[in-house]
Amino acid sequence: MRKLIAGNWKMNGLTADIAEARAVAAGLAAAGGKADVMICPPATLIARLASALENGPVAIGGQDCHAEAAGAHTGDISAEMLADAGASAVIVGHSERRTDHNEDDATVRAKAEAAHRAGLLAIICVGETEEERLRGAAADVVTAQLSGSIPDGDPGRIVIAYEPVWAIGTGRTPTGDDIAEMHHHIHRHLCDRFGSAGEEIRILYGGSMKPSNAAEILAIAHVGGGLVGGASLKAKDFLAIVGAAGGL
Ligand code: 13P
Repeated sequence: MRKLIAGNWKMNGLTADIAEARAVAAGLAAAGGKADVMICPPATLIARLASALENGPVAIGGQDCHAEAAGAHTGDISAEMLADAGASAVIVGHSERRTDHNEDDATVRAKAEAAHRAGLLAIICVGETEEERLRGAAADVVTAQLSGSIPDGDPGRIVIAYEPVWAIGTGRTPTGDDIAEMHHHIHRHLCDRFGSAGEEIRILYGGSMKPSNAAEILAIAHVGGGLVGGASLKAKDFLAIVGAAGGL
């Protein structure tokens, strides 16, 4: 299975940073590698990145969408608008959205359905807090998030991102054994729900992935790629992670 390395720029990125995205595309074009590569910039840059990187090796994704296609929702952006701006995917249910905007599983599921309605790949995020891990509840928490957040239709247009909340932006990562156990658990859940189509759903790892740990994490069974935050902001670091995924 081709790995997917997706950069989540979060609330970072101004006009000057389009150069970083161009540098990623240039690094890949020279290499023609074996991984899929995506950048999810802030909404303000989607259209400009999509046109700067048009027909190149880097796909563009959004970081969130509203569940409805249009309407009176000041400040929100629909999946249709993301597609119209040039995105082919959208992240839904990131832990920062779940925390900062009180998004529950039903909301995340509705957003994933909206992504599918608009023809986008839905990158659905799950992951436990440190407290949940310490009391041995990580697998149950992730199971509940998967059950509640994944829509029924179109497993071919789903990617799961396992992002332990305590590993995001902290420089800490789970042990290789813990990542393997959780990815196996998620894989089983997807196969139980979707049968053979579940086998094909990529499960990304996210949380403090960087050039120095990417190869080790990406080699773990059922790790189908990475969702990269801080290390995606500089082309050099991001390309090193893409290289660790076989993409260079
Ligand atoms: P960091 O790579 O900065 O830990 O962020 C991970 C993340 O939240 C990606 O969505």
